[in-house]
Amino acid sequence: MTILVTGGAGFIGSHTCVELLNNDYQVVVIDNLYNSSEKSLDRVREITGKDLKFYKGDILDHDLLDRIFKENDIDCVIHFAGLKAVGESIHKPWEYYNNNIGGSLTLLDAMKKAGCKNLIFSSSATVYGNPAEIPITENCPKGTCTNPYGWTKWMLEQIFTDMHTADPEWNVILLRYFNPIGAHPSGLIGEDPNGIPNNLMPYITQVAIGKLPELGIFGNDYDTPDGTCVRDYIHVVDLATGHVAALKKIKENVGLGIYNLGTGIGYSVLDVVNNFMEATGVKIPYSFKPRREGDVPQCYSSAEKAKKELGWEAKHSLKDMCRDSWNWQQKNPNGFKD
Ligand code: NAD
Ligand code: WQD
Repeated sequence: MTILVTGGAGFIGSHTCVELLNNDYQVVVIDNLYNSSEKSLDRVREITGKDLKFYKGDILDHDLLDRIFKENDIDCVIHFAGLKAVGESIHKPWEYYNNNIGGSLTLLDAMKKAGCKNLIFSSSATVYGNPAEIPITENCPKGTCTNPYGWTKWMLEQIFTDMHTADPEWNVILLRYFNPIGAHPSGLIGEDPNGIPNNLMPYITQVAIGKLPELGIFGNDYDTPDGTCVRDYIHVVDLATGHVAALKKIKENVGLGIYNLGTGIGYSVLDVVNNFMEATGVKIPYSFKPRREGDVPQCYSSAEKAKKELGWEAKHSLKDMCRDSWNWQQKNPNGFKD
């Protein structure tokens, strides 16, 4: 079975390529390397001892997509390609809507022409907005997003759902990721943010390695056990195996499937900092800062549906996530950059 992985050179995409190759899928990647390096794919080859096919290019490029479908017998697309910086999306809405929505529409068109009607999409817990229930089940209504990035996920879910409604031969699986962190235990692939990280774990690892002086914790007066925000952190390798489980499901002609990919456990920012220090022995200096605009107090999943219907559950602990993030950071202080 051949899988087209859009955005396969990125953080989650590269880890998913490893799991796909380990499960004997043929892998074809398209990535414009806007937020990634081709080195990640060399590392995927090194980890698995297997090859994959890489097209450097953009999902907005109709002709290239048509060529990829002509040159490869694609059974299913796993669609990661997209811009994902929440703050940036507020200042560059057109770029986000054009890339994420325009790119996905181009991809759908190429899939239609090629008769490929199986799609697994990287959605996000962000579609729940400030969630109406905790833990969040897939039945929780979608909420109001606080930024254009979130809206692109919200709208794309609707677009893909409508494709299935119009033509039930389309199998669409929407995977709503919670907070992916960690790295491959080899330390060969991991998250490589540009500039000062916005997300918690890369910020912590950069403090740990001495690139940043201290962590600012955004808010300690939330209505949570220790006053800091609570999230559902999931090891990126678990997230990757979730895609293999989704692929098995799609082969059963699932129609439309919506699944949370999380652990079902909520940890506070202070829990993450303390687990990091315990797992690595490295001290993380921190101070409390004002709340960050747009943050919801609590966001964690019910992981029951994925367990029941996909036979998948996350296996790694928060300490595993901290240890593997630190291993990656230490082995690659500048990420994939020389
Ligand atoms: P990433 O930036 O590391 O990976 C995305 C990849 O897509 C990059 O390699 C980038 O170069 C590529 N890309 C972007 N636009 C493209 C285009 N027009 N054509 C071709 N390639 C393009 O991000 P990630 O963390 O691996 O996220 C993967 C997907 O998962 C994204 O859709 C993201 O929105 C979604 N997601 C991520 C998180 C998270 O916290 N990391 C959470 C929920 C959902
Ligand atoms: C986690 C917690 C911060 C940095 C984001 C996107 C979401 C999804 C996953 C894509 C929060 C706190 C952070 C720092 C801190 N991505 N924090 N100091 O915001 O839960 O989710 O990534 O779909 O859409 O919004 O993740 O890692 O930024 O923050 O105190 O320097 O850590 O306030 O409580 P978030 P995050």
